[in-house]
Amino acid sequence: MKNINAVEMKNISMIFNKKIVANKNINLEVLKGEVHALMGENGAGKSTLMSILFGIYEPTEGNIFINEREEIISSPVKATKLGIGMVHQHFKLVDIFPVWKNIILGVEETKYKQVINKKKIIEDLTKIMKEYNLEVDLNAKVKDISVGMKQRIEILKILYRKAEIMVFDEPTAVLTPSEIEGLLKVIKELKAMGKTIILITHKMAEIKEVADRATIIRKGQYVGTYNVKKTSSSKLAEAMVGRKIIEIKNQHKQNNNDDLIVIKNLSVKKHSNNKVLGLKNFSTKIKAGEILGIAGVEGNGQIELAEAISGMVKAESGKIIINGKNITNDSINKRYIQHKMGFIPEDRHKFGLVLDANLITNVALQDISTKKYSRHGFINKTAMQTNAQEIIGKFDVRNADSGFAIARQLSGGNQQKMIIGRELTRDTQFIIIFQPTRGLDVGSVEFIHTEILKAKDEGKAIILVSYELSEILQLSDRIIVLNSGNVVGEVSGKSATREIVGKMMISSVVA
Ligand SMILES: Nc1ncnc2c1ncn2[C@@H]1O[C@H](COP(=O)(O)OP(=O)(O)OP(=O)(O)O)[C@@H](O)[C@H]1O
Ligand SMILES: [Mg+2]
Repeated sequence: MKNINAVEMKNISMIFNKKIVANKNINLEVLKGEVHALMGENGAGKSTLMSILFGIYEPTEGNIFINEREEIISSPVKATKLGIGMVHQHFKLVDIFPVWKNIILGVEETKYKQVINKKKIIEDLTKIMKEYNLEVDLNAKVKDISVGMKQRIEILKILYRKAEIMVFDEPTAVLTPSEIEGLLKVIKELKAMGKTIILITHKMAEIKEVADRATIIRKGQYVGTYNVKKTSSSKLAEAMVGRKIIEIKNQHKQNNNDDLIVIKNLSVKKHSNNKVLGLKNFSTKIKAGEILGIAGVEGNGQIELAEAISGMVKAESGKIIINGKNITNDSINKRYIQHKMGFIPEDRHKFGLVLDANLITNVALQDISTKKYSRHGFINKTAMQTNAQEIIGKFDVRNADSGFAIARQLSGGNQQKMIIGRELTRDTQFIIIFQPTRGLDVGSVEFIHTEILKAKDEGKAIILVSYELSEILQLSDRIIVLNSGNVVGEVSGKSATREIVGKMMISSVVA
């Protein structure tokens, strides 16, 4: 049987606001039944291209063929009719509804305007779940379930709408390693059932594991389409960023500095349930110029630790001392300004950026009332602009419009680069860094890692929380492993290996 193109996008161009060229003459051909990776740097135009395929944007130019027939995809409703489904990075679920109702939302009710036949729906959904090995608790309320489960619901949702072509836009960026494994299995399952899959991810290992071919775009333009099995990871990375990528590593030089952070018996209520402790009796000392890596499976006390040190939540008991001063009960603002704290939070949309403000404002956020930006009650707009533009240049934030771009318009990875740029260039003496490279392309990861090591060399004390064990191993001087809110082990970065730390992560013995 001749292999047909399930999707063909021809000479697609997309220009926003008459000036931002997000896609320029892009070609994409996806064979029926294959897993096709769509790769490119942050801001390369991947999400835009997929939004066009899903009928969210109308392209400025170009043609789209679905199953070799030309189609005008004027809306997501039309896309759905054509058998295209999209799993967005930010889920669109109604918290107070049970899972099953979320799945049928927008299908049954509008179509039949009749009493919903819950029994039949649950039967149908159960059948799909069995067929694709997708486990979901249909009666749970969305507000009570994990991110991984939410994503499976999104997948179930498009399967219920009979999608044959499925687009996943960075599905693994929000998942834990074990959830990622589960998702990759589901993708393989979907392929085995004949579905066509377009997968966007920055993680080479995931592409190697599930993709047949990959199309790479750079700065909005088509670079090439590659056979994944026959092309090395480094070659793919190079095609993506236009240069060779090197892995950045801590050199583990001797550090004779004084302790800058002292944490004594810190206990913090659990993030998701304030009746129990999420972090228990945490004690450590961190030197100036030292990176302490916090390893562990997600949800074992990392958020509680970062939030208590940053001041986002109150400690239940214990002490946090910075440079000899007890800051345990100080406000976030006081920590930012007086104690020179830097903080890259876990949820960049909620706490890192004001999405509807421009980048110039976002860069000045914490320091607006300091001498840096204001004198005698007047705001120094030039200083704000200059600083924003420096960060944009240095951190290669794409399409930032000299800082006048609204944060929301930036691609996900470029938003992240903006926050990291701000926090690493502010005048700080200690920085809490949470998942710094989530959603970043390989070139940006390399750059951010270099900058974190530079901050260390400048004498800053750094607490690095990451669920990426490789990131912890590459950068840390010392690694503390958390499990169920307890410290279960500590190793020097120099002697740590994936095996040693990995074992500690799943052990429950309190060290
Ligand atoms: N609605 C919009 N208005 C203006 N500019 C936009 C809009 N959406 C995207 N852009 C711009 O188009 C470019 C491509 O963005 P897109 O989100 O497609 O990138 P991406 O490849 O998905 O990146 P990432 O890997 O960071 O998610 C970006 O520079 C972005 O600033
Ligand atoms: Mg994107």
